[in-house]
Amino acid sequence: MARAPDWQAAEERPLVVLGAGGMLATAIVHELEEKGVHYLALSEQSLDITFEGRVAAILKGLNPGIIINTAAYTDVDGAETSREQAFAVNSHGADNVARAARSLGSKAVHISTDYVFDGKKEGPYRPDDEPDPINIYGQSKLEGEIKVRSAAENHLIIRTAWIYGPGGKNFVRTILGLGRTRDNLRVVNDQTGSPTFTRHLAGGIIKLASLDTRGTFHLTNSGQCTWYEFACEILRQNKITTPVHPVTTEEFPTDAKRPRNSLLDCKDAYSILGGPLPHWQEGLRDYLELETGNGEWC
Ligand SMILES: NC(=O)c1ccc[n+]([C@@H]2O[C@H](COP(=O)([O-])OP(=O)(O)OC[C@H]3O[C@@H](n4cnc5c(N)ncnc54)[C@H](OP(=O)(O)O)[C@@H]3O)[C@@H](O)[C@H]2O)c1
Repeated sequence: MARAPDWQAAEERPLVVLGAGGMLATAIVHELEEKGVHYLALSEQSLDITFEGRVAAILKGLNPGIIINTAAYTDVDGAETSREQAFAVNSHGADNVARAARSLGSKAVHISTDYVFDGKKEGPYRPDDEPDPINIYGQSKLEGEIKVRSAAENHLIIRTAWIYGPGGKNFVRTILGLGRTRDNLRVVNDQTGSPTFTRHLAGGIIKLASLDTRGTFHLTNSGQCTWYEFACEILRQNKITTPVHPVTTEEFPTDAKRPRNSLLDCKDAYSILGGPLPHWQEGLRDYLELETGNGEWC
């Protein structure tokens, strides 16, 4: 059962965010600032999660009530040739953090991915569907999940997908850059997912983390589209008229295989959060407004 957020308790024991240089962590930190939560954010330079002893010692010193681990090796294609590095961070590193959380009596919040699934299912994946990753990154993230579950009883694993937001290279920025400089674009139209704005996701993660919620959950913006449809919408919302042509995955080969179906069934998380995250088109609008307002746009 979920109960109301208890930031009083969080005041006594800070919330710690790991992987703080990353795109999702940037949004989590923003939301924590907005909410006035007592937190500490550690980048890879401050804490490399692959070093077990340092993870245990530094986290012990901070005595967190909640640890949100966003740190990950996220180069999906690079993982195909850097298997050891991917597993070192996504599996061994996740394990180090979860073990430290258990020994300190902290809640271990771990971020995972739709890439643990093979993408062959018709319709959205439920949290208890059988994972079967088709690339090294997905395998390393799945092994990380298994280790977190086994190391820390008080864990919350949140799988998400197709994220974009400030503080990182992302699909929206890429398409806008190409849309402004190329005569036409070719974008894959046979992979489906739910594009997810990091700020919307971060709000949900923090709320789930603060409640007495444990187990594995899925969380993305609502609605669905293909990468092609997402690209068209990005250009439409920016009034860019560069033509976009739909192509197949076979016509656009990458080092790592991608699941055709990245849809995650978020009903369980939405029910605890009191409703769905906004539709992906609204997420895109909010993101574009934010970047335009910041004057940071490419
Ligand atoms: N991006 C997506 O579409 C997506 C989709 C589903 C799930 N996810 C998951 O969401 C989480 C956040 O992803 P993101 O997109 O925000 O990724 P990101 O921008 O690449 O952030 C990951 C952060 O982890 C840091 N890191 C890497 N190795 C580390 C280590 N050994 N110790 C400590 N920190 C380390 C990275 O630092 P450096 O940059 O300095 O290496 C980076 O700042 C990850 O768990 C990812 O698997 C992402």
